[in-house]
Amino acid sequence: MNPMPLVLGIETSCDETGVGLVRDGTLLGDALASSMDEHARFGGVVPDIAARAHLHALPPMVRTALDRAGVGFGDITAVAATAGPGLATAVQIGLAAGKAYALALGVPFYGVHHLAGHAAVDALEHGPLPQRCVALIVSGGHTSLLLLGDLARDPIIHLGDTVDDAAGEAFDKVARILGLPYPGGPAIDRIAREGDPTAITFPRPMTGPHDPPYGFSFSGLKTAVARWVERHPGPVPVADVAASFQEAVADTLSRKAIAACRTHHTETLLMVGGVAANSRVRALTAQRCTATGITLRVPRPGLCTDNGAMIAAVGDLLVRADTPPSPLTLGIDPSAVLHGAMIPS
Ligand code: KG4
Ligand code: ZN
Repeated sequence: MNPMPLVLGIETSCDETGVGLVRDGTLLGDALASSMDEHARFGGVVPDIAARAHLHALPPMVRTALDRAGVGFGDITAVAATAGPGLATAVQIGLAAGKAYALALGVPFYGVHHLAGHAAVDALEHGPLPQRCVALIVSGGHTSLLLLGDLARDPIIHLGDTVDDAAGEAFDKVARILGLPYPGGPAIDRIAREGDPTAITFPRPMTGPHDPPYGFSFSGLKTAVARWVERHPGPVPVADVAASFQEAVADTLSRKAIAACRTHHTETLLMVGGVAANSRVRALTAQRCTATGITLRVPRPGLCTDNGAMIAAVGDLLVRADTPPSPLTLGIDPSAVLHGAMIPS
């Protein structure tokens, strides 16, 4: 048996069934199934459909990840699974499966925080995270600016969060307004390439001098798009609206993230989560980071959206930090706030 730890990671918090195998900061293999197509006609994820799909997809995804990594069940030395936040019925499947694999293999189990996974995954692509950095987590359910230390050991400090919709949620809702398919983020990203980002000046929410500098609010921006579309006579210029909306989001996110880096004297900005896959958010943030001497770390788009490697990456950090595992009595926490890498028991 290889003496190096090998962590199996399982992610089932939304509609992606993700499995990853990580050893010492290296992704050995992963596999991903999605029930996205089954939700498309409802315009959003249906929790019970997602849960049933996880149940079907998980065993074959574990098998595929093992085959791709060239290892067997006997090589696994720890199991990590998302214990929250996410859709309760969906998280439940991955957590139960993770505990069952750990019990059957006689290895420790870690119930991890989904958003810690979004941050940790970048280490698989760009090496160990710096000792300290500002992290912008932008996903379908969350938008937060954080101060990160050692992810496995230190508490996570929230500099600001969204007071209403998350950035990804705004992409999904605006896509719906524009008659684009679910999930809205990739659809807007695609069509915005044919549009003019300066066609319409949508508001940059919470960027006034008296607003919280690191707080976010995207509900008003979504409403501004809806009002503009309602009032517009004739056919809606979908590509221009998409590009202009995307520009407002990219501008707001990057401006606040860079201000946080400067105020907190951090040289690195880590940008993660599904919306970090957006081409304009990436380009504008990179451009502004270069101009201000900040190092931008952002995973490749396939690792920004939900996957199993990110959960294995957290497990790998926890194992290497000698963190005590979770009890097998750990339950799900569908609305867990991000304070650390693990979901407390
Ligand atoms: O991190 P993620 O996969 O799941 C959550 O933890 O929520 O993020 C999903 C969100 C969705 O709202 C989706 O529309 C958005 O990320 N997203 C994007 C892009 N790809 C995914 N938003 C903008 N541009 C993209 N290319
Ligand atoms: Zn996510």
